[in-house]
Order: sequence, then structure tokens, then C-alpha cells
Amino acid sequence: VEIRRLHPGGEPVSVESALADLGFGELAPEGRPYVVVNFVSSLDGRAAIAGKSAPLSSDTDRKLFHLLRAQVDAVFAGTRTLRLEGYGRIVRDAGVRARRADAGFEPDPLALVISRSGDIPWEIPLFGAPEQRIAVYTGEPVEAPATEAQVTVTEVAPETALGEGLALARSEHGVRSVLCEGGPRVFAALLADGLVDEVFLSLAPKLAGGGEETNITTGPGLPEAADLELAGVLEADSALFLRYRVRA
Ligand SMILES: NC(=O)c1ccc[n+]([C@@H]2O[C@H](COP(=O)([O-])OP(=O)(O)OC[C@H]3O[C@@H](n4cnc5c(N)ncnc54)[C@H](OP(=O)(O)O)[C@@H]3O)[C@@H](O)[C@H]2O)c1
Repeated sequence: VEIRRLHPGGEPVSVESALADLGFGELAPEGRPYVVVNFVSSLDGRAAIAGKSAPLSSDTDRKLFHLLRAQVDAVFAGTRTLRLEGYGRIVRDAGVRARRADAGFEPDPLALVISRSGDIPWEIPLFGAPEQRIAVYTGEPVEAPATEAQVTVTEVAPETALGEGLALARSEHGVRSVLCEGGPRVFAALLADGLVDEVFLSLAPKLAGGGEETNITTGPGLPEAADLELAGVLEADSALFLRYRVRA
């Protein structure tokens, strides 16, 4: 399957080559990893249909999702997203793990779990995957159950859990790049704390219509809108794949 390159322009290419060697880790600022957020949205800005993001996705979007996972030291999703989407081992494809190792990454990205309340989704398949390393940052003391996954638990201050969790991921686990896969609450909180460097937004050629579904951000708003610059536009099957950098 080929993807059209609208910006910067060029001949159609495979999704793999359009998103090769993104080099996020080299862009890491001092004291924390480079943070890339990836969302899929309907044209009317909704992040879910009937509570799930899958109806908005497409083959190309899924490829992009996995190509981003292949190029970061750690993957971070909010505790509600981890539960609702039933997260398991982050990179299941042995070929992708081999390519990660060739590119200088750990074969399995670290999974980051950050909670102010200590309500950790211990029951999801992620914690049952023996090869998966997971760093849990919690604002309240928790008693970690025995898990198959390799879990470290670190206490942080609840009000600064996100920033501390990211900083400690860098200092304790050498994480230079993080892919945040949502959800909307975590995205808004990261923005409020100035912890977002890039946004990949897949615009699905769909309209959710009215209803109660969440936007890609939810929670307290920003006092001033964040300012971004366009870094790339790809197109396949009427879906647009936008890449924006947050201006410093
Ligand atoms: N379209 C997409 O690409 C996409 C992507 C992901 C998710 N989704 C959809 O989004 C929905 C779930 O997202 P969500 O927004 O409800 O939850 P979420 O962002 O996944 O997780 C929210 C949880 O994160 C924890 N958290 C840690 N630090 C936080 C902070 N500083 N501020 C706020 N929360 C913090 C909170 O638990 P504590 O109170 O314990 O801190 C909170 O309950 C699902 O419907 C899912 O399908 C869509």
C-alpha cells in the first residue's frame, strides 16, 4: 500500500519509508524525553466512537501507530486507555523487535504507567507479559501484586506525577523518546504541563455526529492556545496523516 506525500511533496511511497528513521531520541530536551503524541480523530474532532478508537482507524493508521511504537524508547498511555483498550505487550511482532535492536533500541519498549491516585490497571495483559518492562509512577503508595512483567514502582508527588514520571524515565531508564497514545485526559494534562513536543494526528474521513464522545483533549483548558507548526502531511484512502511540532 502506498501513501501520498502532500507535504513535503514527493512520489507516493510505502508507509514504512514515509515514516522511517524519525530520530526522536536525538531531539530530547534536557531532563526529560522527547514526547510524541499520537491520536486518531474524526473530522469533527472525536477521539472515540462508542468508547473505542478502533472504528476511526484504518489499515494505514494502524501501520503508522506501529511504526511509531517501533521508534521510541517508551510508550505511555493513560490508565483509562490502558484499561479500556486492554493493552498487552507493546511490540508483539518479532520482526519489529529485531529491527528495533538493529537500530539501537531495546527490543521491547518500556511501558510507562503514571497515576496520581495509585489506581493501576494490574489486570490488563500488559502486566502478564514476561518480556515487558514496565515503569509505574504513582502518587499514592501501592502494593504491587506479583506479575509476569518486569515492573518497577516509584512514588512521585501526585500533582507533578506526569513531569516527574517522564524525568525519572529518562534518568533511571535512559528513556530519550516517549510515544504517548492518549487518552484525551492525559493529552490535555501533558499540554498543560508543557510536556508535548510533537503531535501525530490521523484525520479519519468520518463524522461522529453529536453525542457525548470525547475530543482528543479533555479536562482543564490552556490559558493560551498552544502554537504548532506543520511538519508533514500524508494521505491514503481519504484519511490525512498530519504531523505537527509544538513551537518552543
Ligand atoms: N482516538 C485516539 O487516538 C484515542 C487514543 C487513546 C484513547 N482514546 C479513547 O479515550 C478514552 C480514554 O481516555 P481518557 O481521557 O478517559 O483517559 P486517559 O487519558 O487514558 O487516562 C486518564 C487517567 O490518567 C491518569 N492520570 C495521570 N496523571 C494525570 C494527570 N496529570 N491528569 C489527568 N489524568 C492523569 C488519571 O488517573 P489518576 O487519577 O489515577 O491519576 C486518569 O484517570 C477511551 O474512550 C479511548 O478509546 C482515543
